[in-house]
Amino acid sequence: MARGVAKRLDGFGTSVFTEMSRLAVEHGAINLGQGFPDFPGPDVVKEAAVTAIRADLNQYAPSHGTPRLRQAIAAGFEQTYGREVDSDAEVTVTTGATEAMQVAMLALLDPGDEVILFEPFYDAYPAQIIFAGGVPRPVRLSPPDWSFSLNELRRAIGERTRAIVINTPHNPTGKMFSRAELESIALLAIEHDLIVITDEVYDRITYDGAVHTPIALLPGMWERTLTLNSTGKTFSMTGWKIGFVIGPADLSAALRGIHQFNVFATATPFQEAMAVAMEQAEAQGYYDALRANYTALRNQLRTALEAADLPVLPVSGSYYLMADVSGLGFDDDVAFCRYLTSEIGVAAIPPSAFYADPTTAPLLARFCFAKRPETIAAAAERLAALPVLRPKRRS
Ligand SMILES: Cc1ncc(COP(=O)(O)O)c(C=O)c1O
Repeated sequence: MARGVAKRLDGFGTSVFTEMSRLAVEHGAINLGQGFPDFPGPDVVKEAAVTAIRADLNQYAPSHGTPRLRQAIAAGFEQTYGREVDSDAEVTVTTGATEAMQVAMLALLDPGDEVILFEPFYDAYPAQIIFAGGVPRPVRLSPPDWSFSLNELRRAIGERTRAIVINTPHNPTGKMFSRAELESIALLAIEHDLIVITDEVYDRITYDGAVHTPIALLPGMWERTLTLNSTGKTFSMTGWKIGFVIGPADLSAALRGIHQFNVFATATPFQEAMAVAMEQAEAQGYYDALRANYTALRNQLRTALEAADLPVLPVSGSYYLMADVSGLGFDDDVAFCRYLTSEIGVAAIPPSAFYADPTTAPLLARFCFAKRPETIAAAAERLAALPVLRPKRRS
């Protein structure tokens, strides 16, 4: 660690994501690693941003978000999930779900407070907990259905536990927590007076009729739940970083207390454009089209992986597929992903990056299918070489 750098950065060096992206560029690999679309977001949303910029909506927005966007967020939640949301007190616009999670941790944790995470977890969570002085406590999800042991969850709750983090639909597994699982988590949260922070950035990207249940809507949960989301995922504009949090007035106020001194406000014209997007989406069938598009892409990639002798685990939501690479003779998933990127020309992410102890991760690889059909077709062609080439080179 460099001189003068805070201890909280210990252990957070360059991530395997950066390494895989670098390898992908070096070898001209098709990048199915990174979790963002290689296709554009809707024209109408782009036009709305241009219009907003030309209309000089270019100065600071109100710290917790423009009224128009907060109203669109509240209306969208009500329309989809049937619960009225107070757009003034219960909605906060953030710089992506990433900032939302960080300000939630800073608002809720005192030094030494513990936060339960389901493992594998989105890699930012433990860092954000540690940056806020907290301690991450992982609870395992087990493949192939990524279920967890209620006893293990119960045992993980201690004197210092302050919050449970849920991510559904889940990155990297594609799991959607069932209503029964959410109910059991909710009962424990209520019994132990815990806050639940739920990352639902993929709530619109679900498959085969799977129904997304926001845990905030279960009995007794609204007052103890912060629901995080990101328009970047829903409207394929990850670079705009417009996220939001829905939660009860007292928790929202705490979060805003951090947010005002953290980023203060998020880019005004992009908030305006996302308000336009959300106002129109349902009526124009956007969410149904999004689901249909992703279902086709998932099917295309699944077929390609299976043709390359890579069995695929079931996926209910998100835009990732996990392939079982345990039968291929590699020591770990990082070795497989390095091989796949440099020798086959397709980049994937080793899910061990989502584990506290990477050596305990199952041997899988995560593929992102938020890519154009041509991208997936080109990857499929390269993957077809895998069963042929593989025996020549083992790590
Ligand atoms: C589960 C999850 N949460 C949060 C994010 C980040 O969201 P944002 O870009 O809005 O910060 C991602 C991005 O991949 C994600 O997969």
